Amino acid sequence: MTTATAVAHPNIALVKYWGKADAHLALPATGSVSMGLDVFPTTTTVTVDGGAADDQEALGPRGPVPDRRAAAGRPRPWGDAFTLNGHVAEDGALVRVTQFLDLVRELAGSSARASVVSENSVPTGAGLASSASGFAALATAAAAAYGLDLAERDLSRLARRGSGSATRSIPGGVAVWHAGDDQGSYAEPIPAPPMAMVVVTIDAGPKPIGSREAMRRTIATSPFYPAWVTSTTETVGEMLTACAAGDFTRIGELTESNALRMHATIEGAFPPIRYLNSRSVAVFDAVAELRAAGVEAYATADAGPNVVVLTKPEDRGTVAAALAGFGDVIESGTGPGAHLVRSEDTGAPVP
Ligand code: ADP
Ligand code: DP6
Ligand code: CO
Repeated sequence: MTTATAVAHPNIALVKYWGKADAHLALPATGSVSMGLDVFPTTTTVTVDGGAADDQEALGPRGPVPDRRAAAGRPRPWGDAFTLNGHVAEDGALVRVTQFLDLVRELAGSSARASVVSENSVPTGAGLASSASGFAALATAAAAAYGLDLAERDLSRLARRGSGSATRSIPGGVAVWHAGDDQGSYAEPIPAPPMAMVVVTIDAGPKPIGSREAMRRTIATSPFYPAWVTSTTETVGEMLTACAAGDFTRIGELTESNALRMHATIEGAFPPIRYLNSRSVAVFDAVAELRAAGVEAYATADAGPNVVVLTKPEDRGTVAAALAGFGDVIESGTGPGAHLVRSEDTGAPVP
């Protein structure tokens, strides 16, 4: 039995990924740029046991299965197991993990099932990038547990297949995720000036519609989508130039503009999807007031009502204090990449 534990952090996009060019390979329609956080880690343990994940003859039919809850977190005789934040996942979240492990098994030439236990410290499904930290941690732990020795680039490509934004949580720091084909679509670190973020959690509950489905609807129905793709492709180039030049002001301006363009594009879907609420907008207003008062701060928001404010490290305390009335406020520096914290072959027989 082999087991591996990995930690990964969420990342917040400065230039957003919104839409896939190829859903099966998880290739994005455009490049994107992000800052990895040093708060809200996800810790994931993957334990590979000896049984075959798809050995129907040995396993019998998959469902209904006996008392799943009793077996939480332990290897079980009917396929992969996934426990998230202490709860056994049985729905779409388990399917997503199993499909991801199928890719890992294919790479490793293995058919062994696995037990996955994960703890998010970031709210799940709230627009604070739990799928990014979640699948970056899972990719890192699963690769080790199945005996794959992947270069960072290949780990980033693998994480991409779990959730697009997870591609950028493999390197951490400030990173670009390249659009391209399967080989060329990975994330890597880029030079950038010192930056910090202040996360304003307005609502930690799950969003009514997940990023994946919302993206599909945007592509299918928003008349603004083609313009989003054209303008974001341009913005990625401008952001890379600004980062290389260490031009914090330009980075901030591009960040806020690109976030609002993404939300406008999403709001153009039919039926419409609106992630920002009045309290989110109030934070954007407060950030504009901070700028008027001479503090360099720029607001962004992913697919959810929560707002993240990009600022200089020396101003993060001032920004956090100014926004304390709007929600739960957490300061973050630039975070590390995904990493293994434990990996061992226990040699123990399968229980
Ligand atoms: P978010 O804004 O939090 O990234 P998404 O809609 O993109 O929201 O993704 C939420 C989904 O990501 C969850 O429903 C679950 O399927 C998956 N997910 C979240 N955390 C983890 C984790 N730690 N391990 C595996 N999958 C996870
Ligand atoms: C708004 O990576 O969560 O956060 O690839 O379908 O899992 P899937 O979507 P996901 O989308 C993230 C969208 C975003 C912008 C970003 O992180 O770039
Ligand atoms: Co996500």
